[in-house]
Amino acid sequence: MFDIQKIRANFPILNRSVNNKQLIYFDNAATSQLPRVVIDTISNYYTTYNSNIHRGIHTLSSESTIQYELARQKVANFIHAKSADEIIFTRNATEGINLIAQSWLAPNIKPKDEIILTIMEHHSNIVPWVLLNKKYNKSSGVYLGDKIKINFLPLTTDRALDINKLDKLLTKHPKLVSLTHLSNVLGTINPIQEIIKKCHEASALVCVDASQSIAHLPINVQDLDCDFLVLSGHKMFGPSGIGAIYVKKRILEKMIPFLGGGEMVKDVSLDYIMFNELPYRFEAGTPNIAGAIGLGAAIDFLNSLDRTEIIKYENKLNKYLLKKSSAIDAVHIYSPLNPNLNAPIMAFNVGDIHSHDLASILDKEGIAIRSGHHCAKPLITTFKTSSVARASLTFYNTFDEIDKFILAIQKAKRLFRI
Ligand code: ALA
Repeated sequence: MFDIQKIRANFPILNRSVNNKQLIYFDNAATSQLPRVVIDTISNYYTTYNSNIHRGIHTLSSESTIQYELARQKVANFIHAKSADEIIFTRNATEGINLIAQSWLAPNIKPKDEIILTIMEHHSNIVPWVLLNKKYNKSSGVYLGDKIKINFLPLTTDRALDINKLDKLLTKHPKLVSLTHLSNVLGTINPIQEIIKKCHEASALVCVDASQSIAHLPINVQDLDCDFLVLSGHKMFGPSGIGAIYVKKRILEKMIPFLGGGEMVKDVSLDYIMFNELPYRFEAGTPNIAGAIGLGAAIDFLNSLDRTEIIKYENKLNKYLLKKSSAIDAVHIYSPLNPNLNAPIMAFNVGDIHSHDLASILDKEGIAIRSGHHCAKPLITTFKTSSVARASLTFYNTFDEIDKFILAIQKAKRLFRI
């Protein structure tokens, strides 16, 4: 049974006030809040067994190694990977995509290769591919052209991915299709399984950006059959500075390490290096040990909830948010209005109020939303504006908070005489 008060009691930050108003946190797509158990787990690590992993023989080091590797297993189980060896800890999803671009795509590029991204992507799923694609003259730095062709899958007029156009792009047998499972701006849930099937039929590998979906939907990488998947701890009720990627083992075995240093090597001499086993060869240097253990605690927390009930509740929140917001004159909603296909993330503007002004007015009411381009400029450009406001909710938000958000929007309208 879904008990919102019981859920909220896990999140100490929700009790604070902002500008003398009770905090209403609607910026979960940027960073979600941490339950007490995650904060305590991190604090316990630093208080009782802070030490380096895989290196020491002493008790503290063996305790932290056990907890770090347990966290890797928790990530693997959470996304139903076959083995924990397919999970690499990173700083965040962005670093994960950079790792895939540099360790898998860069060494395999052949002339005339193509990859497909979508217009809906966050910059983290555009820039790493573009960066590796540029050829520069080594001495002058002059740009010499692109190594591969990057195609962008457009959107339909309803702002869904235009799957029909994917068929055409796939006829050119791209190497990779990299796309988001859930749009950070629109909340749209993409038909990822159908897309992956089509891509595999065309022999393209698929990288899924699960940064947003991981907090809203159950994910099974074996059922999806994706080749790569990236996630970030701070968007799934864990700490920041920790993320993970999943890579199918047969692909990972052929990938070249992204960063060099300690821990990723088994043997080093002055003229010879032997890489460590998987997945350690992709984790150079001392990792974010507390972060990984905290992420493991966040996964335990999510597993303790009834996720079917959570999805139902979030759907209801989303329907209510869209209904109440679209009833206000001058509110323009960019997210699809069919809530069955969406997470509770709403991109909107109010008349011609700049989204930063709107966010400031809402902040005075204790309401946190994000404004601007949401690190998704190609998508925002299709809205024919440079900036939108975004309310992104999760399972600890309430209908009452939505009512207060609506009152704050009406207040903004009055202030701007709209
Ligand atoms: N990706 C984060 C967002 O959508 C930062 O706000």
